[in-house]
Amino acid sequence: MKVLVTGGSGYIGSHTIVDLIDHNILPVSVDNFSRSSSETLEGIQKICKQSINNYDIDISQADELRKIFELEGDITGIIHFAAFKFVGESVKEPLLYYRNNLNGLINLLDCVKKYNIQQFVFSSSCTVYGNPDQLPVNEQSPILPSQSPYGATKQMSEQIIRDFAQNSSCKFSLLRYFNPIGAHPSAMIGEGSKFPPENLMPILTETALGLRKSLTVFGGDYPTRDGTCVRDYIHVMDIAHAHTKALSLHFQNQNVQTFNLGSGQGVTVLELISAFEKATGIKLNYEIGERRPGDVVAVYADNRKAREILGWELKYSLEEMMSTAWQWQLKKNA
Ligand code: WQD
Repeated sequence: MKVLVTGGSGYIGSHTIVDLIDHNILPVSVDNFSRSSSETLEGIQKICKQSINNYDIDISQADELRKIFELEGDITGIIHFAAFKFVGESVKEPLLYYRNNLNGLINLLDCVKKYNIQQFVFSSSCTVYGNPDQLPVNEQSPILPSQSPYGATKQMSEQIIRDFAQNSSCKFSLLRYFNPIGAHPSAMIGEGSKFPPENLMPILTETALGLRKSLTVFGGDYPTRDGTCVRDYIHVMDIAHAHTKALSLHFQNQNVQTFNLGSGQGVTVLELISAFEKATGIKLNYEIGERRPGDVVAVYADNRKAREILGWELKYSLEEMMSTAWQWQLKKNA
């Protein structure tokens, strides 16, 4: 099976390529390094001991994208990661997000039709649930108004796929990630970006390394067990393996399946900090600050569907999420 992986040098994309190769599936990457570094492909090559074929093109250029399918000839599946994902940036630049995230998807769906692609795995997000009033969320939980244009592009992308799938023989898996963190155990790849991080885990490890004076916990007065926000953190390698599983999923009648990829455990920011301190023996310097606008108070997954239908088993603990994230930070700054 030959699979096109868009965003192959990104955080989830790179870890998924490693898992695909581990399971004898040949990945072809397309990534223009607009948000990631080509060094990530070198990291993958060190882990897998084989070269990765990457096309440095922008998937919003339809004719460029079609060339890949013509050149490769026998692509049967697509895993689509390539999209902008910074919540804060999307509020400042909504058109950048709608143009990039939706045009890329639409061009790919044109290729699904033209080249008779049979499997399509889409990188979605728990942000589609907005601020849920019932927890844990399952795949039938209401899709609430999004908190950001980024989240809106994920909701719209899912709808575009559902509408397209009505007249397609292709099988679509929509994978809703909760909070992916951690890194490959080799520390050869991990979470990285050309932009300073906005999300918790890299900011936490940069603080631990002394690259930042302290971590600000955004809000300590939420209606949760310790006043800080609750999230469902999940190891990036567990997320990666769910994509490999999705490629071989036998669909019954409908040709779109949606899965929550979360651990099923809600963890507060303060609990995550304690887990990091326990796993690494490092005392973290942090203070409680103002709430961050747009933050969801609490969200965590009911992951039964992914476990029962996808056959997805979680392999990594919260402690391993902390230790691999830390090893990656040390390696990056070695
Ligand atoms: C987690 C918690 C913050 C930074 C993520 C991704 C987003 C999307 C949805 C995939 C929150 C708190 C953070 C800091 C803090 N992913 N925090 N101090 O907001 O859940 O969004 O999931 O589609 O791209 O980012 O993740 O890591 O930004 O925040 O206290 O310096 O950490 O308030 O409670 P979030 P996050």
